[in-house]
Amino acid sequence: MAKVKTSFFCQNCGHEAVKWLGRCPSCNEWNTFVEEVVTKKKNDVTAFSKLSKKTARPQAIHKVVDAPQERIELHDGELNRVLGGGLVPGSLILFGGEPGIGKSTLMLQMAMQETKQKILYVSGEESDQQIKMRASRIGSLNPNCFLLTETLLESIFKYAEELEPDLVIIDSIQTIHSESIESSPGSISQIRESTAQLLRFAKQTDTPVFLIGHITKEGSLAGPKVLEHMVDTVLQFEGDRNHVYRLLRSIKNRFGSTNELGIYEMLGNGLREVENPSEILISNSTEKFSGTAIAATLEGLRPMLIEVQALVSTAVYGTPQRSATGFDLRRLNMLLAVMEKRCGFKLGAKDVFLNIAGGIKVNDPAIDLAVVASILSSNADVAIEKNICLSAEVGLSGEIRPVNRVDQRISEAEKLGFDKIIISKDNKGIQQKNFKIEIIGCSRIEEVLKEIFG
Ligand code: TYD
Ligand code: MG
Repeated sequence: MAKVKTSFFCQNCGHEAVKWLGRCPSCNEWNTFVEEVVTKKKNDVTAFSKLSKKTARPQAIHKVVDAPQERIELHDGELNRVLGGGLVPGSLILFGGEPGIGKSTLMLQMAMQETKQKILYVSGEESDQQIKMRASRIGSLNPNCFLLTETLLESIFKYAEELEPDLVIIDSIQTIHSESIESSPGSISQIRESTAQLLRFAKQTDTPVFLIGHITKEGSLAGPKVLEHMVDTVLQFEGDRNHVYRLLRSIKNRFGSTNELGIYEMLGNGLREVENPSEILISNSTEKFSGTAIAATLEGLRPMLIEVQALVSTAVYGTPQRSATGFDLRRLNMLLAVMEKRCGFKLGAKDVFLNIAGGIKVNDPAIDLAVVASILSSNADVAIEKNICLSAEVGLSGEIRPVNRVDQRISEAEKLGFDKIIISKDNKGIQQKNFKIEIIGCSRIEEVLKEIFG
């Protein structure tokens, strides 16, 4: 009897070892090694060779024809943006997210919208009836979308060859297995092998392929690092399941920027694109509360106005608490230290809680000034006027620093009906006469306070 070849794989990062190890030398996780059968059968799949459009040959670089990368423009504007301006033919896209966040919904919705493309939707998780039911809930059925409930990769390729789809969606990569390898579906070596074959399929047939992937409890894609290297684009779908908003980010993108953010709203009939996020991120109520300030930020190329909320109260216990949701806690501590040391506010004995409304995370330093303003507003219990917004970074000596693309931020604030925007004095080249909104340049926190609290 032929000896069965096995190997040990770290289930966290995919590191392979010949013997069991307690701790993975690659990602340092403990107790993650699992033995998997790795016998590879000889008959490597070339099932899609007929569909193959490419034969690679060495070419002199100056002879390479420079055709612009053609992209398939999708109906879904948010998805287009996050992909970097449309879908690149032959790209392999990993689409991750926690269970129940709406991955299948988004993919199915795309499949229903793209009536011009022939789509193969492969599901290893749900039955045809379930998918159809969901699709009818989302909208009209696309006769160009074909469902296949199959988990064996070789059959998927066989049907793909018959159907010659323009786009393939695999829901999910963890359920797919290949005959060419003996370990069980969902194991690292299966996921890796299946992805490798799908990559070859995508590249050789020029068909874009979406792979849905589940995320582990720790928040990383299961069998993740291995896959991230292989695919062209990694998209992540995030959001609080208790909130209706879902954020689509790209973590890696060979064909575009990773700064773009897509926003959706989960409704009873599918996901709605949120084209103007500022409207949902700032509350419309006319009532004024202390501790809220509006910041003009940028996500990728898109300006967005968001509401920063702070609560400052006297600490009950010896050590004051500081907590931040959607904002870096270390940065909050830094800003508190600046306010204490440079501006003389006694915040050392206060609890400070900070929250970015709408459940989104912000990394843009331009939000600093709004954070400072909201904290001071809550501390003094004086509300900031509803018609003011802020956009500047705060430096370690309490100076107000300029931010990039400030004109875009100003225009967005103007568009949403704000009367005043506070920016850094050092933001050069901004001319008041080009804007209706009043632009106030400040260089110190004290000046800002005078502007907003009088
Ligand atoms: P689903 O796409 O199945 O999540 P995933 O594939 O990421 O596991 O999303 C399921 C959730 O979405 C479920 O809680 C119901 C909700 N949902 C809506 O709110 N509206 C809809 O139109 C659909 C189809 C689902
Ligand atoms: Mg699903």
